[in-house]
Amino acid sequence: MERTFIAIKPDGVQRNLVGDIISRFEKKGFTLVGLKLLNVSRELAEQHYDVHKEKPFFKGLVEFITSGPVVAMVWEGDGVVASARKIIGVTNPLTAEPGTIRGDFGISIGRNIIHGSDAVETAQREISLWFKEEELASWKSSLTPWIY
Ligand code: TYD
Repeated sequence: MERTFIAIKPDGVQRNLVGDIISRFEKKGFTLVGLKLLNVSRELAEQHYDVHKEKPFFKGLVEFITSGPVVAMVWEGDGVVASARKIIGVTNPLTAEPGTIRGDFGISIGRNIIHGSDAVETAQREISLWFKEEELASWKSSLTPWIY
């Protein structure tokens, strides 16, 4: 079963959006298989955003991600990587569609509330960066026959 890595960034936690965000993924029918709240180290932030290390926004991005607690999650389900990106909306909240998380709750690209893996291979890399194998639970919801 496909898995993706989702992180509620420090702005999403500070703005009390954790419950609403988790609820959107639950209601869609995806299964939560990993969840923790943590203060992100500079090392983890730099590894996570490694592809952006030459970008002008990299330093500010790392400072922002390490500025307060983050809720890190792994969600499971058919097509969850691409579907989660749709639920999240495009990178800039100002142009993200209403009905998406960024479109409903954000204004600034530097405060866009949430991260979601952009491809299946990226998801595998990010899940193993943020979670140990024993922190992930494999379970089947009793609702599965009503969702699939
Ligand atoms: P990116 O991987 O392009 O977007 P996404 O999170 O939608 O996959 O960029 C990573 C994060 O970097 C993005 O969520 C917000 C931040 N960022 C900026 O602060 N300024 C920018 O111009 C861009 C492109 C991204």
